[in-house]
Amino acid sequence: MTAPVTHEQDHFSQVYHLIMAAWGSQAIRAIAALSVAEHLDGGPLSAQDIARRESSDPDMTYRVLRAGAALGLLTYDVTQGTFSPAPMLAVLHEDSPSSLKHYAQAAIGPAFWLPAVLLPDAVTTGTHQAVEALGSDVFGYFGKNPVEARTFSAAMTDLSAPVIREAVTVIDVGSARTVLDVGGAYGTFVSELVQRNPRLTGSVLELPHVAAGVSGKARVRGLEGRVTGITGDFFKAVPGADIYLLKHVLHDWDDESCRLILSNIREAMPPGGRLFVVEMLIGDSGASPDAALMDMAMLFATTGQERELGQFDALFSAAGLRRTQAVPLRSSYFLIEAEAR
Ligand SMILES: C[S@@+](CC[C@H](N)C(=O)[O-])C[C@H]1O[C@@H](n2cnc3c(N)ncnc32)[C@H](O)[C@@H]1O
Repeated sequence: MTAPVTHEQDHFSQVYHLIMAAWGSQAIRAIAALSVAEHLDGGPLSAQDIARRESSDPDMTYRVLRAGAALGLLTYDVTQGTFSPAPMLAVLHEDSPSSLKHYAQAAIGPAFWLPAVLLPDAVTTGTHQAVEALGSDVFGYFGKNPVEARTFSAAMTDLSAPVIREAVTVIDVGSARTVLDVGGAYGTFVSELVQRNPRLTGSVLELPHVAAGVSGKARVRGLEGRVTGITGDFFKAVPGADIYLLKHVLHDWDDESCRLILSNIREAMPPGGRLFVVEMLIGDSGASPDAALMDMAMLFATTGQERELGQFDALFSAAGLRRTQAVPLRSSYFLIEAEAR
C-alpha cells in the first residue's frame, strides 16, 4: 500500500522545483547558446551531430539536451538516439517573432547571475551588488565586455518586441515628425513606431558601444537613414524631439537619477512634446510574478526598482511633467504618457 501524499510533501516538491529552476534556466541558456533550435530545423539530430556542429563535448551536449527534454523543450527518440523540437523550443529560435534566444543567454549570464548570487548581501546591506560582483555597475561592465554587451542589447530586443508591438498600436503620433528613443538599445521601439508612421524619423540616444549598432539594425529593417544612433549620456543632456520614448530605463535607476533623466527630457521637449514611458507597474494589491521577479534583478544588480503608478507620478511631477494616461499592456507592462506641466 502506498502512503497518501501529504500537503507537506506537496509543498516540499513545489519549493524544491522553484529552487531547481535556477539550474534549469542555465540548461536553457546552454541550449540557446548551442543554437539547438536552429540546428533542428533540418530534422532530428543526435547529441553527437549537434556537438560536431558546435565543437562542443558530445557527452556534455547529450546531458544538456536530455535536461531540455525533461523540461519539455525537446523530445527524445530512444530507438534512433535523436532529439526533435517540442513546440516550446520555437521560442529559442532566432527567427521566431517571439524569440527569447538572446534573453535566455543575457538574463542569467554573468552580468546578472554573479550579482544574483549576492542577493542576500544586497538585502543585508541595502546596496545592489553589481560593483561587488562585477567591479563596476552593470552598464560599465558591458562597456568593457563587448560580446556580452551585444547579447544584452539583442536580449532587450527579444524581451521588448512583443510589448512594443502592442504599445505602438496605442500611441497616436499626431503631427509629430521626430521621435527619440532614450536608452533605446538597438532601437526596436522607435523602429516599430517609425515603420507604422511613414512621416516620422527616429533616433536612439545610447552609450557609445550600443549607439554604434543602431544603424545596422535599422538597415536590416529597411529603415536606413530613418532611424539613427546618437552617442550620449541621458544624465548629461537629451536632444530635442517631438516624441520621447523611455522603455525599461527608469526601472534601472534610483529616484534621484530618474528625476535627472526626466528633467533632461523636459528641458529638451518642444511645446506640445510628449513622453511615452513603458514599464511594469506594481499594482494596488501587490506585484505580479513577472514584476516581482524583475524587481529582484533590479535589487541585486542596479539602484532601481519596479514602481507603482503613484511613484511614477511623483517622479514626473518633480521633473516638471504630468501624466496624461496609463494604458495596460501585456504582462504587467503599462504605456504611461506624460507632457510638460
Ligand atoms: C534595460 S535597457 C533598456 C533598453 C530598451 N529601452 C528596451 O527596453 O529594450 C537600458 C538601456 O539604457 C542604456 N543606458 C544606460 N546608461 C545610459 C546613459 N547614461 N545614457 C544613455 N543610455 C544609457 C543601456 O545601454 C541600455 O541599452
